[in-house]
Amino acid sequence: MPPTSTFALNLATTRKPRPKDSELVFGRTFTDHMAVADWDSARGWYDPRIVPYAPFALDPAAAVFHYAQEMFDGLKAFRGADGAIRFFRLDRHCKRMHDGGERLCIPAIDQALMREAILSLVRADADWVPSTPGTSLYIRPTIIATEPFLGVRPANRFLFFVIASPVGAYSGEAFTPARILVEDTYVRAATGGLGGVKAGANYIASLRAAEDAKARGYAQVLWTDVVEHTYLEEVGTMNLMVRIGDEFVTPPLGGSILAGVTRDSVLTLLRDWGFQANERPIGMEELIAAHRAGTLREVFGCGTAAVITPVGTLGWKGEDMVINDGKPGEVSRRLFDTITGVQSGREPDKHGWMTTLDA
Ligand SMILES: Cc1ncc(COP(=O)(O)O)c(C=O)c1O
Repeated sequence: MPPTSTFALNLATTRKPRPKDSELVFGRTFTDHMAVADWDSARGWYDPRIVPYAPFALDPAAAVFHYAQEMFDGLKAFRGADGAIRFFRLDRHCKRMHDGGERLCIPAIDQALMREAILSLVRADADWVPSTPGTSLYIRPTIIATEPFLGVRPANRFLFFVIASPVGAYSGEAFTPARILVEDTYVRAATGGLGGVKAGANYIASLRAAEDAKARGYAQVLWTDVVEHTYLEEVGTMNLMVRIGDEFVTPPLGGSILAGVTRDSVLTLLRDWGFQANERPIGMEELIAAHRAGTLREVFGCGTAAVITPVGTLGWKGEDMVINDGKPGEVSRRLFDTITGVQSGREPDKHGWMTTLDA
């Protein structure tokens, strides 16, 4: 007997063809169903349901279209060699989405409801969780303001939904160190702004700089602080880690940086392994001095999508700084292997990060 759920099931009568594991492209194909719940001020979150994946009918005046009152999250489920489906740090993602609502005047999502939405959706679409090593099911919970009105105030109607997309294996290329431009004109987020939450608005704010960097031959930008453009913040849509000697440094969470789940996992593993892993401000001056002294050993981004992305080159004021001879660092590799190992069930889950789906 499948576990009981508060989500009403309205399953699709026909199923879509599923792409082969070798043909998966990030975020292009979506599973047969979605989880949905509504909110209004009288009822709170209500009518949780699993329905066939389909477009929404929304009023053109819906607040999300005009004032971008929305937020999302992103996490993954993996199929292990034993066939079991496991979610990486499900509760932490539910807590981040719950906590983020406050800043955006979005009603807090009930964490148990969000968890159940994700479990129920993946139960309905279990066949979509790919099995080739390195593949996964990317899960995208989202809340949008649906009240039709023009005027700047918090909406009084919202829609919560969860969609899912099978994503391909990390290719060898994924661990090729990236060329990154240190951004000294645009900002993604400022202290006191929205950078600490996964608001769509942050990603729009980042597009211009990323496009300009690409035109100059860099894959992404390294964001710097809004005042001096010297303190490091995030790299593209990943948290930043820097290794100077045997100290790992990541910028502190101060409202402009997202509290990444991978960031937290990396800090935990580094401390387990006996490294100093500090959350403290780090500026370009310190980075350049370490590079000159030969102690800048590794720079990498970390996030759900690619887990660890090594940085091989940093462009700054017209010059390129090559890190570790442009090769991935040894600890970057060890972190990638350990986290992907825990996710696939190959490595022991010492910290209780995985939730297994009871089919
Ligand atoms: C801006 C930003 N920073 C950092 C991260 C990394 O967070 P997580 O490790 O929770 O995926 C993300 C999302 O992936 C992001 O969008």
